[in-house]
Amino acid sequence: MLEIKDSVAVITGGGGGIGLAVAKYWVQNGGKVVIADVAEKFLEQGEAEIKALHGDVASVVCNVTNEDDCAKLADAAIEKFGKINLVAPFAGIIKDGLMLSTDRKTGKVNRKMSLEQFQTVIDINLTGVFLTVRECVERMINHNCKGLICLVSSTGSLGTAGQINYSSSKAAMSVMPKVITAEFFRRGLADKIRCVAIAPGYVGTPMVKGMNQKALDKIIEQVPIGRLVEPEEVAAFVGDIYRNEALAGDVFYIHGGLRLGSKG
Ligand SMILES: NC(=O)c1ccc[n+]([C@@H]2O[C@H](COP(=O)([O-])OP(=O)(O)OC[C@H]3O[C@@H](n4cnc5c(N)ncnc54)[C@H](O)[C@@H]3O)[C@@H](O)[C@H]2O)c1
Repeated sequence: MLEIKDSVAVITGGGGGIGLAVAKYWVQNGGKVVIADVAEKFLEQGEAEIKALHGDVASVVCNVTNEDDCAKLADAAIEKFGKINLVAPFAGIIKDGLMLSTDRKTGKVNRKMSLEQFQTVIDINLTGVFLTVRECVERMINHNCKGLICLVSSTGSLGTAGQINYSSSKAAMSVMPKVITAEFFRRGLADKIRCVAIAPGYVGTPMVKGMNQKALDKIIEQVPIGRLVEPEEVAAFVGDIYRNEALAGDVFYIHGGLRLGSKG
């Protein structure tokens, strides 16, 4: 079992939502954190909230789609704390819409998802994760660090209407734990650096809680526990997976029993 105490977590998307919840959980359990976000305002506020918990924190402005930013983030963690033990590339976005919309009267296509709407989500949710992981794990290997790469997929990886961009990004990312674990196994690194993904259902971040009440009620109807999963529950799940070294190379769901596919 690994201990969080004195370990160092690098968390992108750390300025809010699930990323910030993981950062708070980490410092509350004696760990140190480097939070990164493209939104400076969120980052400053996140850093202040962590400091209020007496947490040891550094923050780095970083756009995860930028190779240099990701390299600088990984370097900052090594410079400040000398090691990296958890890589949590949690920066992610949604830009929902149908691939093709049809006019109800004519039945003809009246709107298409733009290339930009598709590509931006892939760039941040998939390429951004690749860059963050590659740069951080390079330093982990070279500095002889032990720990976990914890990606955040989604139940959306199984395919959600209106999310061809998001679902595709998360489905593609869900194969990364298998690839990375197999590659590290070949190189004799798999006992030191594990890789998993967690796949949350609907989490009560400001984005989800801010939805209109009718849409939210419809979502909650599908969740057997009768409510959204809380960001703190996702954070504790990340902690449990970090500690338990038997968990590697797979995707682990946390969705309150959400009815997926067949409504059962
Ligand atoms: N909230 C949910 O229900 C839910 C469910 C499943 C998976 N997820 C995943 O969890 C992750 C976090 O989601 P959340 O709900 O906390 O979202 P959020 O919007 O609250 O936080 C995401 C953070 O990422 C940052 N970000 C966006 N683009 C960035 C970029 N290019 N570079 C760096 N930072 C960037 C944002 O500024 C924001 O602070 C995402 O990957 C999301 O897909 C969320």
